[in-house]
Amino acid sequence: MSQALTKSPKHCGNKHGLNICKLYKNLFLLFSTFGTTILSIILVVWLILRPTKPEFSLKEADIYQLNLFSSYLLNSSVQLTLLSKNPNQKVGIYYDELQVYAAYKGQQITVYTSLPPFYQGHEDSNILTASLVGIGLPVGPSFGYEMGRDQTAGRLVLNLKVIGRLRWKVGVWVSGKYRVNVDCLAVMAFGPAVPTGPLTTRQGTQCSTNV
Ligand SMILES: *[C@@H]1O[C@H](CO)[C@@H](O)[C@H](O)[C@H]1NC(C)=O
Repeated sequence: MSQALTKSPKHCGNKHGLNICKLYKNLFLLFSTFGTTILSIILVVWLILRPTKPEFSLKEADIYQLNLFSSYLLNSSVQLTLLSKNPNQKVGIYYDELQVYAAYKGQQITVYTSLPPFYQGHEDSNILTASLVGIGLPVGPSFGYEMGRDQTAGRLVLNLKVIGRLRWKVGVWVSGKYRVNVDCLAVMAFGPAVPTGPLTTRQGTQCSTNV
């Protein structure tokens, strides 16, 4: 027993030291228990509230212009309406810096259009509209050929994309920024005859969302 005492670390060696040592041990135990409890509470709260990614669906898309000239330059004009929904009961969403553009055959055919930032409350929905244009945008050499093939087939598939950042809001706490990527498909009739009005699709299809 006495041998074990002399072998213990210096600061725990004498009789006074032993008490201090015990105090440190108890304090350490107290703080580590406290810390573990706090961490567990945060984990449980996060697991309960864990935000579900927002939902987007395409309500309407209209192509007013899709005009290839000088073989590889494109004028385009697209109008779209999206429905955005926050499926969370206890988490709000701040949308910052949302930008929309259209792509066709894997190529961007309009420039980015910014949407005004907004806050979406618990289980709220918002209608988002955007006018997208491209003036003299360069496209790849196969673009005209592919567009001709779609015209023969009688339909085209347009990608409408939203990129940006969002923040989650839980009570008064607001998270850091997370990237969000939305991709919507619009399928439209696209005949060889010059259309009298815009190419239009009205559908409620779900878009794919990544956060
Ligand atoms: C493309 O758009 C620009 C700007 O609106 C216009 O000046 C030009 O004539 C258009 N070109 C074609 C071929 O439509």
